[in-house]
Amino acid sequence: MDELTLTKPDDWHVHVRDGAALHTVVPHTAAQFGRAVIMPNLRPPITTAAQAQAYRARILAAVPSGLRFEPLMTLYLTDLLPPDEIVRAKAAGVVAVKLYPAGATTNSEAGVTELRKTYKTLEALQREGMPLLVHGEVVAADIDVFDREAVFIDTQLIPLRRDFPELKIVLEHITTRDAAQYVAQADAFTAATITAHHLLYNRNAIFSGGIRPHYYCLPVLKREAHRLALVRAATSANPKFFLGTDSAPHPAHLKEHASGCAGCYTAASALELYAQAFDAAAALDKLEGFASFFGPDFYGLARNQGTVTLRRANWTLPQSYPFDQAQLKPLCAGETLSWKLG
Ligand code: NCD
Ligand code: ZN
Repeated sequence: MDELTLTKPDDWHVHVRDGAALHTVVPHTAAQFGRAVIMPNLRPPITTAAQAQAYRARILAAVPSGLRFEPLMTLYLTDLLPPDEIVRAKAAGVVAVKLYPAGATTNSEAGVTELRKTYKTLEALQREGMPLLVHGEVVAADIDVFDREAVFIDTQLIPLRRDFPELKIVLEHITTRDAAQYVAQADAFTAATITAHHLLYNRNAIFSGGIRPHYYCLPVLKREAHRLALVRAATSANPKFFLGTDSAPHPAHLKEHASGCAGCYTAASALELYAQAFDAAAALDKLEGFASFFGPDFYGLARNQGTVTLRRANWTLPQSYPFDQAQLKPLCAGETLSWKLG
């Protein structure tokens, strides 16, 4: 197969930042996807319907003319997010609420310190039928960084699932066999997104020939057995697994740093990277469901009209993009990919 036409896909998890950075990254996402779920971890975070609407307008202002792109907005869950705000958010078109355990990742300082504190708000979410998007990692000094996701499932997610049986939950950017198995066996209210980088790489990529900060993201890449489990889940045609790039841009000098930021920038070549991963698994025929159908079906939104076409052709990713006053280095900068969009 040398050409693959898909119903226009969506990205169910992306970071586009704010200000001048929007003008680099929004055109990339808008060129690849019809819609994208926009993460709210700005500084300060997006915690009100009004902030989400204003942020949406700033994103739309960065969409190149001639492209049709719909940002799907989210709110950032804190210990103090009032249940009323969920009702206002729903009315304002906000599609989901994001749970960051405090301290788990970039700009998560305002995140949840204890799930119990948010139960009134989660009740409102369940009532409104809005998904809770979960960064599924525990942060504790005595838990190994590679075990954070599995421990989160056992100690946080299973009780949460039991206490809110009809709350739609998306376990975001899953990285382990444990998560893939948990989601596959869960009921229809539970789903997961999978990034391209977790399908393509295992943790060796972070350490090959020296420390490679552009492969550092959270949750961190895991060992090969986990990558293989994610590939099986993504290519299984199980509608619980769908596309979420977790493309997370940081200026190159802050990734190539003594305390480098977490996040891989994949938005400019997202579909090409997913095609590479599905092709390697001889499962290109499964890409459309994963990229274009299962996400909107879970959120209760219509599938997109229109199509995109990927062609087998070698092309080399740029080394970097201008990014505000800095540079943004994509994952696989300067490397050759074998699929090209358009
Ligand atoms: C994300 C970011 O930079 O905002 N980083 C990442 O490594 N994925 C935050 C997140 O999704 O954890
Ligand atoms: Zn993310």
